[in-house]
Amino acid sequence: MSKLKIPFFDYKRQLKKIKPEINQAIERVLNSGNLILGQEVANFESSFSKFIGVKYGVGVNSGTDALKIAARALGLKAGDEIITVANTATPTISSMRELGLSIKFVDVKDDFNIDETKIDVAVTKKTKVIIPVHLYGNPAHMPSIIKIAKKYKLKIIEDSAQGIGALYNGRMVGTIGDVGCFSFYPTKNLGAHGDAGAVVTNNQEIAEKIKSLRKYGERKVKFFSEEIGVNSRMDEIQAALLNWGLKKIYGYNKSRNKIANLYNSLLKNSPVVLPQFDTNKSKSCWHQYVIQVETRDELVEYLGNHGIPTMVYYRYPVHTQNAYKFLKYKDKDLPITSFLSKKVVSLPIHAELNIKDIQFITDMIKKFYNDRLIA
Ligand SMILES: Cc1ncc(COP(=O)(O)O)c(C=O)c1O
Repeated sequence: MSKLKIPFFDYKRQLKKIKPEINQAIERVLNSGNLILGQEVANFESSFSKFIGVKYGVGVNSGTDALKIAARALGLKAGDEIITVANTATPTISSMRELGLSIKFVDVKDDFNIDETKIDVAVTKKTKVIIPVHLYGNPAHMPSIIKIAKKYKLKIIEDSAQGIGALYNGRMVGTIGDVGCFSFYPTKNLGAHGDAGAVVTNNQEIAEKIKSLRKYGERKVKFFSEEIGVNSRMDEIQAALLNWGLKKIYGYNKSRNKIANLYNSLLKNSPVVLPQFDTNKSKSCWHQYVIQVETRDELVEYLGNHGIPTMVYYRYPVHTQNAYKFLKYKDKDLPITSFLSKKVVSLPIHAELNIKDIQFITDMIKKFYNDRLIA
């Protein structure tokens, strides 16, 4: 078979197409003389809130800061406990640990998200917040999570870093809990050209607190802190580029959806396990297209040798990493998390891919398993 060179994420290829518009936006900001928290940020906060369907959006420096500031805005204090998953990027946890919060892990289901039937038993007197992570852009089962949160009077912070544009029952993720946190890291569905993030909420009081916390704790009076805040301002260049990206997000997400459907149909009768979720209620934004496979590392090497890059999110669940071993979770405590970490692999998914690419990728996956059967 021929060899194609398929990028997993190719910023340079993308940039070539959009450079004039990007340059224009950067020039507009530089000429305005306003570099941080100006009109571009205000415009982005308002357009992004409108896009996802929430009253308030606050631009911050990263998804990690979004989580940290969200937890502080909800009044969490050292010693309080949060419930989340180990099948996530470490910032879901590191942001909480930085505030001195205790971590309770709950296992996931085969849709990669928190197993809502296991949250109940994890709740203690110290639990204050549940953090569902909409992993790979697949919405977590929010109605059950809300039910449990109500029962125990807990708040919900949605880690929607990977879920920009994903819907549960017609509502965008990040708008369903008390606070939603987004990352605009360049590889995300809506990517900045550097670091950026946002916190969203329908609660005005919380929104004001988030705004204060991101800028030294200042509210009405400049250089007068009402509370101890941080510097997590969004800069104008990133906001201008995000304003531009926001106009493209529907198209980009549509392309991802098309590619995912194509993968689904071409891999249907192959030995791989396709992404599983309730498609009647959940609309993934396909941040990642993740399959479960046997002999993963051999497949990854084989595809790599044929010019097909793949990624494994996450080979090392958080509880297994040296920095988090002190949390004292074992693989047997989180069996599905542990199982998935050995099986998952992400295939390329982005607007630059064409039908020929997807055909080639799926053919090579099938060939890998067919050849093994024959051998
Ligand atoms: C699930 C999840 N949470 C949080 C973050 C942190 O976002 P950032 O890298 O913008 O700080 C990421 C980023 O990769 C993520 O994937």
